[in-house]
Amino acid sequence: MTKVLVATVKPFAKEAVNQIKAVFNDAGYECIFLEKYQDNSEFLEAVKDADALIVRSDKVSPEVLDAAKNLKIVVRAGAGYDNIDLEAATAKGVVVMNTPGQNSNAVAELVLGMMVYQARNHFNGTSGRELKGKKIGIHAYGNVGKNVARIAKGFGMEVAAFDPFVPAEAIEADGVEVFKTAEEMYAACDYISLHLPANKHTIQSINYALMSKMKQGATLVNSARKEVVHEDDLLKIFEENSKFAYISDIAPDNRSVIEEKYPDRCFFTPKKMGAQTAEANINAGIAAAKQIIGYIENGDTTFKVN
Ligand code: 3PG
Repeated sequence: MTKVLVATVKPFAKEAVNQIKAVFNDAGYECIFLEKYQDNSEFLEAVKDADALIVRSDKVSPEVLDAAKNLKIVVRAGAGYDNIDLEAATAKGVVVMNTPGQNSNAVAELVLGMMVYQARNHFNGTSGRELKGKKIGIHAYGNVGKNVARIAKGFGMEVAAFDPFVPAEAIEADGVEVFKTAEEMYAACDYISLHLPANKHTIQSINYALMSKMKQGATLVNSARKEVVHEDDLLKIFEENSKFAYISDIAPDNRSVIEEKYPDRCFFTPKKMGAQTAEANINAGIAAAKQIIGYIENGDTTFKVN
């Protein structure tokens, strides 16, 4: 019997778990859940006889891949697969996939939610600001960026984007202004929302040269990965741009310094919450389950990333 391990430190919603179980049950697969594990040794033990693995941001290291002697496929139920060692997986002949687009609305809704929270002074009762009429620049126009654009328009915001990998016509077709350089977009917007993957080209790429272009009092929103922002440069910007704010779904390593010095100009979720909705968990979890069955039964490699 094909055995699937779903390893999630941050568990899926109960409804999603039940639906994932039902999909594997119908296919005649065994499906085990390892949730909220405290130590990697629990993951290493659980994965050792699994044929397939579903994870979220759980780290799939060479050690995990070595322990998983029968493993054929790993699906990251989500978009970013920087938590999976692709080279080690490829060397072991393990297929890696993600489930693009399945949780993007959830992340985009959180982006606008955090923006309202910040613009209304953390709901502290004082007079805040509105989003209507302000300009948002979307840095990387993928599935999440596209959803942010749609929702921001509902707020009456002006929407712009920068993405050298997406044809300008495709962005313009959404009624979104295209910038040819990130610098120009950073200089023109009240909000910048980051949607870049974390890879060797993007890590620490949101640096002083870019952030110093931002308007006085502009807000940087990060629902991507903390690693894309250069944290020492971020502190410099806090010092120089007196009303600059940074709101992020992934707290920076220097969180305590920023929170202590600039409590009114930052907000960090307690843990990554963007994709933490029942709908996103169901969409991404079911897609992952179906992709595993499609690969094991028919060799379908749609969404393979290695
Ligand atoms: C993603 O890359 O899909 C998001 O960052 C969500 O990650 P999560 O599944 O750990 O919440």
